[in-house]
Amino acid sequence: MNRIPYPKRLPLALTPTPLEAMPRLGEFAGGRQTILFKRDDLTGSVLSGNKLRKLEFSLAEALQLGADTVITVGAVQSNHCRATALCCARLGLKCHLVLRGSQSGAADGNLLLDRLAGATITLLDAEGYSTRQPEIVPRLMADYAASGGRPYYIPVGASNAIGAWGYVRGYRELMAQAGRRGITIDHVVVATGSGGTQAGLIAGRALTGGGKPEIWGVNVCDDGPYFEAEIRGILEEMNARHGLKLKPAATPIRMLDGHVGAGYGIPDAACIATIQAAGRLEGQILDPVYSGKGCHGMLEEIRAGRFGKRGTVVFIHTGGVFGLFPQREAFSTTQAAGA
Ligand SMILES: Cc1ncc(COP(=O)(O)O)c(C=O)c1O
Repeated sequence: MNRIPYPKRLPLALTPTPLEAMPRLGEFAGGRQTILFKRDDLTGSVLSGNKLRKLEFSLAEALQLGADTVITVGAVQSNHCRATALCCARLGLKCHLVLRGSQSGAADGNLLLDRLAGATITLLDAEGYSTRQPEIVPRLMADYAASGGRPYYIPVGASNAIGAWGYVRGYRELMAQAGRRGITIDHVVVATGSGGTQAGLIAGRALTGGGKPEIWGVNVCDDGPYFEAEIRGILEEMNARHGLKLKPAATPIRMLDGHVGAGYGIPDAACIATIQAAGRLEGQILDPVYSGKGCHGMLEEIRAGRFGKRGTVVFIHTGGVFGLFPQREAFSTTQAAGA
C-alpha cells in the first residue's frame, strides 16, 4: 500500500475494530449478498462510534495548537458532541457544546452523557440554532480567548479536512483486514449525516490506488445532491490543507438517497422493523437516527437489486446506541412475527 501523509493522531479509539459476518441479516435481505459489519460501534464503550476515529485527528490538532477548550455543535442527541465531551474530559480539556433542541425532563441518551462529562451546554431551539449558530460560535471563541483561554472549534460531526482522516485510516484498516482474510469487498455502505465519514473513506480509497469497493452513503437527512456537494467540498479542503491530489470533481460520490423518511431523526415503521430485526437476528443494536436508517437503506437497496445478484457488502456500523433511549416509545410495540 502507498505511504499516506497522515496528520498527527491521538490514539483514542480501540482499533482495529472487528469485521463480522451477519448471515441472518443477509437472509433477511433476500440472500443475494454476503453482509459484513465493520464494528465501529466498538471503538470504545461510551466513547464509541465513528466520531472517535475523526476526533483522534481533530483533537491531536487541538492539542498541537495549544487549545484548552473545545467548542463544537450538533443536535441535542448528537453522538459527535457526546464523544467530543467525553474525549475532552479524558484529555483534561474544557468542552462547550452548542446543541440544537431542548431538554424536557431529566437528561436522556447522549445529553445525559454530555452532562456527566462536565461539558458546558448552550441549548438553542431549531430556529435559534439556524440563525444564531453562525454568530454564537465566533462569539464563544472570542469570549474564551478574551478570558485567557485557547479555544479550538470542531465543526458539526468533525466533518472537515482534519476529521475525515479518521476514515482514511478506517478504510485502510478495513482493507487490510479483508485482505488478510481473503475477502473481496464489492461495496461499503455507511450512514451519512454530515459527510466526513464517507469523504474519509473515499479519500482512503483514492490514496490506496482507487478501484473497488464502491463507497455508498445512505443520507439520513437532506438529499443526495446536498451530500455530493458537501463531500466534494471536504475532499477539496483535504487537498488544500494537506497537499493531497484527490480529484473531487471527477470522483463519483455514490448516495443511496430516498431513505430519510419523514425527516432527520424520525424513523418510519419499516426502519423500526429493521432495527428490531438486527437486534433479534444478529444481536446488533442500531439507532433510529443514523446506523438504523443506514442499515435499513442498505437492506432495501440489496432487495431492489442495486448491488447485483451476488457480492460482499460491508456496512460500517457507526454506533449511536445512546440515541435509541430517547426514542424508546417507538420500540415499545411487539415485533411482528418474521419481520
Ligand atoms: C452514529 C452515527 N453514524 C453515522 C453518522 C454520520 O457520519 P458523518 O457525520 O460523518 O456523515 C453520525 C454522525 O453524523 C453518527 O453519529
